[in-house]
Amino acid sequence: MLKPKAPGLAIAAFLAIGVVAVTAQDGFTPPATPEEAVAMRQALMREDGGILRSAGNLSGAEAVAAMTTLRDNYSHIPDLFPEGSIVGDTKALPAIWENWEAFVAIAATGQAAAEAGLAAAEAGDAAGYGAALQTLMGTCGQCHQQFRS
Ligand code: HEC
Repeated sequence: MLKPKAPGLAIAAFLAIGVVAVTAQDGFTPPATPEEAVAMRQALMREDGGILRSAGNLSGAEAVAAMTTLRDNYSHIPDLFPEGSIVGDTKALPAIWENWEAFVAIAATGQAAAEAGLAAAEAGDAAGYGAALQTLMGTCGQCHQQFRS
């Protein structure tokens, strides 16, 4: 109310970001602030958890979609942990940046597993798809144990 123009500007900025985002490979725009990084990575983690809860029962196009999202999400993990982004209600540990190579290696393992799971889903290879899910699920605890409080 005190700044009647602010909402319009906010919407314009939001739309501008949206336009940039659709030009990115899969609509991903890296976070602009530490706060945004925390919110984005927490949302991504929750999405991955939701997918993995049901992924074992999927096949065909649904399995392909699940693996595509997991692959894209895992590929974004490094970008969502800019150095020093320990703000607000984050549970990220400083160990992430002290062991950056190990941290991104776990993310890369998950990304590669999702890529393999995607190929298996496309080929109707249930065993390969299941194996990829197992590897993916292993990366959750592997990373949380070392890098989340
Ligand atoms: C490469 C490291 C890494 C991998 C892999 C990883 N996580 Fe996380 N996860 C984290 C970190 C670090 C946090 C804390 C983020 C924060 O609070 O800023 C977190 C937070 C979470 C949260 C809490 C989100 C919230 O709302 O606060 C959930 C749920 C979660 N992860 C689920 C998963 C699941 C499920 C998987 C496997 C599919 C997974 N994570 C894989 C590092 C990882």
